[in-house]
Amino acid sequence: MKFTSVFAASTAALMIATPVLAEPKAEVLHWWTSGGEAKSVAVLQQEFADRGGEWTDMPVAGGGGDAAMTALRARVLAGNAPTAVQLKGPAIQEWYEEGVLADISDVAEEQKWADVLPAAIAEHMKCEGHWCAAPVNVHRVDWIWANKEILDANGIEMPTTWDEFNAAAEKLQAAGITPLAHGGQAWQDATVFETVVLGLGGAEFYKAALVDLDNDALTSDTMKAVFDEMRVLRGYVDDNFSGRDWNLATAMVMNGEAAFQIMGDWAKGEFLAAGKVPGEDFLCGATPGKGFLYNVDSFAMFEVDGDDNKEGQAILSELIVGPSFQETFNLNKGSIPVRTDVSLEKFDMCAVKSSEDMIAAEEAGSLLPSYAHGMALRGAQSGAITDVVTAHFNSDMSSDEAVQMLSDAVANSM
Ligand code: GAL
Repeated sequence: MKFTSVFAASTAALMIATPVLAEPKAEVLHWWTSGGEAKSVAVLQQEFADRGGEWTDMPVAGGGGDAAMTALRARVLAGNAPTAVQLKGPAIQEWYEEGVLADISDVAEEQKWADVLPAAIAEHMKCEGHWCAAPVNVHRVDWIWANKEILDANGIEMPTTWDEFNAAAEKLQAAGITPLAHGGQAWQDATVFETVVLGLGGAEFYKAALVDLDNDALTSDTMKAVFDEMRVLRGYVDDNFSGRDWNLATAMVMNGEAAFQIMGDWAKGEFLAAGKVPGEDFLCGATPGKGFLYNVDSFAMFEVDGDDNKEGQAILSELIVGPSFQETFNLNKGSIPVRTDVSLEKFDMCAVKSSEDMIAAEEAGSLLPSYAHGMALRGAQSGAITDVVTAHFNSDMSSDEAVQMLSDAVANSM
């Protein structure tokens, strides 16, 4: 037999023996629509395409994901869940309880996730012992971003206490500069609020108030002081802050229209996407206080029909936790890899600080879940707190009234 016919015969045998593989598909619901976010999610799209996957994008604009979660509920109620959904913290368990999540333990075990993920984070990804979500990153929430030129020109250092922050802001205001770039959306108010809770109260107070929902903490003098500081901060934002998207607030710092923004390190993704360099164009510093508020993005896989969708879920899960995606994605996103075995060699000074501070916080017992970004509480409770925070920020409500309202809202949400 000639070589060509041997080849033809064996190819034919192979074609009969190999089962027809489904073409992997995934419809992916996420809220990564800003410049830095879109650049980051494109990395996953590319890796999925490289594995032969067909990606259907379902972006739902709206920082913090509130609109995305509304869209998700509508899809699930219609009996037509997307294959993969950006979902975090206790919301993963809430959807599991509705009986709509898929089990991705096969991939997790094959890829040895338990060996490369911090135990506390792995716990968030599990539903009654099996894996139901794949973690992407670790974002830090308690950051201040600053325009370096403005600070230098006004002789201001990155503040390390809230009093220093206020003094810097007063000085900037007197010089005609907007001290704080802020977007008046409830989740952004909540983001600032939780950093003040940590800063003024410390790690134990944060945990008592925003994780354990302890009524004494919620109504304490410390919590009143937090609302006092929120009122002070309200005075540092410009007149047009209402409804502004977070990335537009970041752009204000970038463009020299404001000095500071208090925001998680997805803001760094915006600076980087615009070609700005940390330490030269912009500065990063932890918000005053001791601790680290973590926000881990993850994707939960929903129960879907069809081998093509199931294959898509398996490939996506594998890629998300894979070392190559973890590095490239997080370089764009502003976060750090969630895997403990990915080198930070290519990462910038802010990422290195984040990683060092996270390790130190873990040792000190001050590594804490972000309530504002859905890591600490179930939706009803976090929503109740955020309603009060935003109502206070947008009115002349006193701190006494605010803590009373907070205590009532939390009690009613249980
Ligand atoms: C957070 C999310 C980040 C970032 C931010 C703004 O909740 O974890 O990845 O996208 O919202 O949209």
